[in-house]
Amino acid sequence: MLISVPQESRAGERLVAATPRSVKQLIKLGFDVTVQAGAGAQASIPDEAYVAAGAGIGDRAAAWSGDIVTAVNAPDEDEIALLTPGSTVVASLQPHSKPELIDALAERGVTALALDAVPRISRAQALDVLSSMSNVAGYRAVIEAAESYGGMFAGQVTAAGKTPPATVFVIGGGVAGLAAIGAAVSLGAQVRAFDVRPEAAEQIESMGATFVHAPQAQQDISPDGYASPLTEEQQAAAMELYAQECAGADVVITTALVRGSAPTTITAEAVAGMKPGSVIVDLAASGGGTHSLTQVLSADSAGCARSRLR
Ligand SMILES: NC(=O)c1ccc[n+]([C@@H]2O[C@H](COP(=O)([O-])OP(=O)(O)OC[C@H]3O[C@@H](n4cnc5c(N)ncnc54)[C@H](O)[C@@H]3O)[C@@H](O)[C@H]2O)c1
Repeated sequence: MLISVPQESRAGERLVAATPRSVKQLIKLGFDVTVQAGAGAQASIPDEAYVAAGAGIGDRAAAWSGDIVTAVNAPDEDEIALLTPGSTVVASLQPHSKPELIDALAERGVTALALDAVPRISRAQALDVLSSMSNVAGYRAVIEAAESYGGMFAGQVTAAGKTPPATVFVIGGGVAGLAAIGAAVSLGAQVRAFDVRPEAAEQIESMGATFVHAPQAQQDISPDGYASPLTEEQQAAAMELYAQECAGADVVITTALVRGSAPTTITAEAVAGMKPGSVIVDLAASGGGTHSLTQVLSADSAGCARSRLR
C-alpha cells in the first residue's frame, strides 16, 4: 500500500506531513512511501533525507495519488481532482466550517480523516494536532512579542542602575496559554494570567505565573474541560479585569477561545489605556480575534495569526 506526501500549496506553509523519521516508521510497518520533490524544503528537509529513509520522490500527481495521502492542510479543488477514487486522505480539514470541501471529497469517492476532529482524549493524544500546534503557537507568541517589545523580558541589574522585568499578561490558560506562560517565565518576565475556568488556576500557577483572581468573571467547573460563553455579568467583570491588567502590562498575549471562536476580551478603550510601546499578540486571530481592533491578515497551521491594528 502506498502512502504519499504532497508539498503543501497553502501560501506561507512551512510544514510537511512526514519527516524522514516518520517515513522510516511507515516503511517499517510495511508501507511504500512517495514524497513530492521539494515537499520538505520549507522545513529544511532535503529530498535526499527522505530517500535515505527509504521513500521514493515523485511529482505532484504522484504525491496526490497514493492509497493514503497524508497532508497538513485540506486539498484545494485541483488537488482533489488528483486524488484516486477509493483512496484515503488524512489532513486537517475543519469539516464543521467547510461543508463544501467534505461534499467535494465525497463526490470524488475518497475517505477523509480530519485530524483536527479527532476527540481530544488521552487515548488519542498521539493524533492531537490541535494541542501540538497550540503548544508551538503559545511559545512562538512570546518570541514574536519579545521581538516587537522595546525592552528586555528579564530585569537587569547593571552598574548604571536597574530595570524591572517586563510584565506579561496572558488571557486564557489552555494549551497555548500555558505554553506562552512557560516561555515568558523562562525569559525572566513577570507573568500574570487569567482563565474563566477555575480549574486553570492551579495549572497557570504551576507554570510560574500569578493567577489573577476574579470570581465574578469565572464559570463553574466545566464537565468537559472546555469554557462556555460568559453571561452578561461575567463578561462585564472580565472586561473590567482585562482593561485593568492591560494597563499595567508590557505584553498581552490573548489565547481565549470558546469552541474555536474568539470571545472579545480587549476593547479599543482598553488598548487606548495601554502603555506606549506595549505589545499585544492575538493568538486567537484565526478564530475571529479577541481584541476588537484585530484584523486577520493571514494564519498558518500553527494557529499563529498575524494581525495588525485597524
Ligand atoms: N488530550 C487531552 O486530554 C486534552 C488535549 C487538549 C486539551 N485538553 C483540555 O481541554 C481544555 C481546553 O484547552 P484548549 O487549549 O483546547 O482551549 P481552547 O483553545 O478552546 O481555549 C483556550 C483557553 O481560553 C479559555 N477561555 C475561553 N474564554 C475565555 C475568556 N473570555 N477569558 C479567558 N479565558 C477564556 C478557555 O477556558 C481555555 O483555557 C483544557 O482543560 C485542556 O487541558 C485536553
